[in-house]
Amino acid sequence: MEQKVAVSRKEHFNAAHRLFCADWSDAENKRVFGACSNPNYHGHNYELVVQVIGYPDPQTGFVINTKDLSILVEKEVIARFDHKNLNLDTDAFKNLNPTAENIARVIYDFLRPNISASLELKIRLYETERNFVDYPA
Ligand code: NI
Repeated sequence: MEQKVAVSRKEHFNAAHRLFCADWSDAENKRVFGACSNPNYHGHNYELVVQVIGYPDPQTGFVINTKDLSILVEKEVIARFDHKNLNLDTDAFKNLNPTAENIARVIYDFLRPNISASLELKIRLYETERNFVDYPA
């Protein structure tokens, strides 16, 4: 039986954020979120891997055209987040902590409606070289 193929597109964006719970004191936020709770924000160089999984089209041999995927990620994600303050400049994180977990989920929700339902979609987001999340798990 024919196997599915996973196609990945790697992108990059720089963004600032602050992780905090508004009901907590600065000290409590610092204890839980560490440097990521700095009240004056700080930046990360996010590395994003968008993976699309499915059967290659018998005619083109493509699971998805990576050029189309690149344009989609640029429009739906990079244009929204690159060089932005995620807390202040984006609607998605007005009331949602911009953790890597939540950013990955928001990115998934931006992309999912634009990719054929016959294809699986997975998001991997690196907040640092050592810390990354996968959504869905
Ligand atoms: Ni941070």
